[in-house]
Amino acid sequence: MHEIEKVFADFLVERRKQGLYRELTRVRRPDARTLEQSGKTYINFASNDSLGLSFHPEVVARAQEWAGRYGAGAGASRLVTGNLELFAQIEDKIAAFKGFEAALVMASGFQANASVLPALFDRDVLGAEPIVFADRLNHASMHIGSAAAGITQSRFKHNDIPHLESLCQRAHFKQVPKFILTESVFSMDGDLAPLDQLRETADMFGSFLMVDEAHATGILGPKGKGLADKADLVVGTFSKAMGSFGAYIACSNVVKEYLVNKCAGLIYATALPPSVLGAIDAALDLVPDMDGERARVARLAETFRAEVKALGYRTGLSRTHIVPVMTDAAEKALALCERLKDNGLWSVAIRPPTVPPNTARVRFAFTAAHTEGDIERLVTVLREHARKENA
Ligand SMILES: Cc1ncc(COP(=O)(O)O)c(C=O)c1O
Repeated sequence: MHEIEKVFADFLVERRKQGLYRELTRVRRPDARTLEQSGKTYINFASNDSLGLSFHPEVVARAQEWAGRYGAGAGASRLVTGNLELFAQIEDKIAAFKGFEAALVMASGFQANASVLPALFDRDVLGAEPIVFADRLNHASMHIGSAAAGITQSRFKHNDIPHLESLCQRAHFKQVPKFILTESVFSMDGDLAPLDQLRETADMFGSFLMVDEAHATGILGPKGKGLADKADLVVGTFSKAMGSFGAYIACSNVVKEYLVNKCAGLIYATALPPSVLGAIDAALDLVPDMDGERARVARLAETFRAEVKALGYRTGLSRTHIVPVMTDAAEKALALCERLKDNGLWSVAIRPPTVPPNTARVRFAFTAAHTEGDIERLVTVLREHARKENA
């Protein structure tokens, strides 16, 4: 083993000791509701496929059709020869859907945040290093994008407007560009950002408001268009409720044009393949008419929240289809997942560093593919678990 590999091996031993070791589990996903592992079938409560679109016949058919018609790959980055005319059609649809002047398709949500932020925060272009106020529970990709820009974020307590305002106040005298970064739905908590107040704060201090709508796009807001229509820029993904892969930026024409000229993730990455563009295109056609599915998912999550709270579990401030059951200790989250798995239910323990220390949880994500019976089964196992834990 190379000396450097020994260091990595030690790290892994330490991770195991702390109950924080991660591994890639091999699964089959035969449909939007279940998972199979080693021949056993589980109801999947860990998927972000909130509308079940990943298996929707029209989404799958358009992905197949566009692969057949336009090939398996785009062949180059969008600025070389990969800017297939399909992009313009999709970007027009996204801009209209989101109510923004323009939209730009990116390779993934992670890649969008990791590469759009360095472009937006470029001190040579801005003329000064910007101040970036960021909710401390923002997704890792936003923190990584800021770090890639060489920015030390000014982090405000989660959804805490007075704290944000005090940070803005302190920085007010600095004549430099300012940004506020948040998510509309927090991915590990399922709670909502106070977007109207964030808009007011941004206006009060002349900040540019950027909102990540990864977990709102398709599933929340009128016709599933999300919640952040008052943001200056939205980043969202097609990998969750939209059922496939890829991401978008919704913004003004000038920001789009700037990103085409400055965003490394767009300039130096091969364009998304036609099959993925087909899936995105079909999802954009279907999602506005899925109010029934959205209401059902909200109902399932509400039922679950009410029932598990009655059993004494804590679900934080969740108000959406994402519902954490807090265990605080990582080992407890793992033990709960094991119990659920023994009963045919698949869930995932979310542990530090994904969440702050001592806030481990099991994160449940409800989808239109779940049934009322699935929720009952889940609650039954949680009841049994609580009984055994308290025995
Ligand atoms: C808030 C947030 N932003 C960005 C991402 C990354 O998106 P993608 O999975 O499309 O790379 C995620 C997904 O985990 C997310 O939860």
